[in-house]
Amino acid sequence: TTDTTELLLSRIRDVADHPEPGVVFKDITPLLADPVAFTALTDEFAAIAARTGATKIVGLEARGFILGAPVAVRAGLGFIPVRKAGKLPGATLAQSYDLEYGSAEIEVHAEDLSAGDRVLVVDDVLATGGTAEASLQLIRRAGADVAGVAVLMELGFLNGRARLEPALGGAPLEALLQI
Ligand code: PRP
Ligand code: HPA
Repeated sequence: TTDTTELLLSRIRDVADHPEPGVVFKDITPLLADPVAFTALTDEFAAIAARTGATKIVGLEARGFILGAPVAVRAGLGFIPVRKAGKLPGATLAQSYDLEYGSAEIEVHAEDLSAGDRVLVVDDVLATGGTAEASLQLIRRAGADVAGVAVLMELGFLNGRARLEPALGGAPLEALLQI
């Protein structure tokens, strides 16, 4: 609803020149500190999980953990962390992806996803879409299906939606706020 959108938007802080000069960073810590806003966000994501028929929630390190874990609890689904390389102790699937300069790598425990799962990916921000795209590649390599991607904010000027489209394979990208 419009009221929820206004509430969420009002709890996101713009921080100039973070992490480097010229970038306006969208800081969600005021939203996390407000239980009414955090609950409203969790309810919105849980409704997307229900609508898309998700059976598992994947959260992307680190802010996707904070947002995704309560969604999993609220929706009655398991939570699966996708972590930066080298953090998970068990046998993993790894996926590297290109950044503006250089590359990054994320991992998931191989035993956490399998055929028959329908996975909703949760994160705070879709920027270039590289992280979300790599997470969808991990999900598909594990044999699971993609229910969709749900983010609080889509930074439209970075064209992440277009980058993500092929990996979505028709599944929805749901952004609660367009920046
Ligand atoms: C940020 C953000 C997303 C990702 C979006 O995470 O939380 O996960 O970048 O960028 P992209 O669409 O260009 O891939 P970051 O890597 O800063 O990790 P953090 O949450 O651990 O700080
Ligand atoms: N805020 C939070 N995370 C981000 C941003 C931002 O503005 N840009 C890329 N990742």
